[in-house]
Amino acid sequence: MARFSGKTVIITGAGSGLGQATALRLAQEDANLVLVDMSAEGLEETGKLVETAGAGGVELVTANVTKSEDVQKYVDTAVNAFGSIDGFFNNAGIEGRQNLTEEFGDDEFAKVLAVNLTGVFAGMAAVLKQMRTQGSGSIVNTASVGGIRGVGNQSGYAASKHGVVGLTRNSAREYGEHGISINAIAPGAIMTAMVEGSLRQLGGEDWEAAGKEFVSVNPMKRFGRPEEVAALVAFLLSEESGFINGTIVPIDGGQHAMY
Ligand SMILES: NC(=O)c1ccc[n+]([C@@H]2O[C@H](COP(=O)([O-])OP(=O)(O)OC[C@H]3O[C@@H](n4cnc5c(N)ncnc54)[C@H](O)[C@@H]3O)[C@@H](O)[C@H]2O)c1
Repeated sequence: MARFSGKTVIITGAGSGLGQATALRLAQEDANLVLVDMSAEGLEETGKLVETAGAGGVELVTANVTKSEDVQKYVDTAVNAFGSIDGFFNNAGIEGRQNLTEEFGDDEFAKVLAVNLTGVFAGMAAVLKQMRTQGSGSIVNTASVGGIRGVGNQSGYAASKHGVVGLTRNSAREYGEHGISINAIAPGAIMTAMVEGSLRQLGGEDWEAAGKEFVSVNPMKRFGRPEEVAALVAFLLSEESGFINGTIVPIDGGQHAMY
């Protein structure tokens, strides 16, 4: 039997990149999916992909993770449609501007923190309430290599992703005894729309050349693939990883080992 038959998983940021790849992977493993994104267009695209892959059941929820009523909407959708929440990939995020701390700006800082940290916190809080009544569940938060190391020129991103690491460890201590595991992944450079955006900020028209420099910081000298992240997330959300809790798992070609 597929690992996710009869299981329900919510994925935020499901309209693109890592969220979309994970939706596809879990659909192939027969999960019921609640796909969340602020981009209705992205959601529709992922919806078509998972339908072709044959997910158990699929709900698409257009929602902004910074709004508490939207967070409650995706949680209620999952419970009303499928009766439980077995997994939560708390993944929506933005990169924000790249520049020196002194030039970063209060508004930009607040914007990045609202999505990457407050949005992750609000999602965890609402989902944990449901998981505690069930006495089971698994959460994977998306941190970053920028959440465990200094990368530079990313004040908002670094602060938010270090915050995700802190939230993960804190809540893992609180909920382990309720049968709930909470972990985070710390991806390095994975080729998605977000990374293409970073490269365009760095290299302009010559962004593909900037990509070569970008990957020189990992021993494998390549970008990761969204499917590689999806395989890790699926493992962490599955019962196979049942005793892994409060861990931050790098998936970065070894970048975290280099400095
Ligand atoms: N790609 C990488 O190299 C990389 C590395 C480390 C961490 N990450 C993290 O992985 C996560 C996914 O990134 P990605 O590379 O797939 O990016 P992406 O831009 O391809 O996808 C992000 C998705 O999140 C959605 N989103 C953004 N803000 C939202 C909001 N307020 N409410 C709801 N949805 C929102 C976007 O519409 C988009 O569909 C992010 O948290 C990112 O910080 C990515």
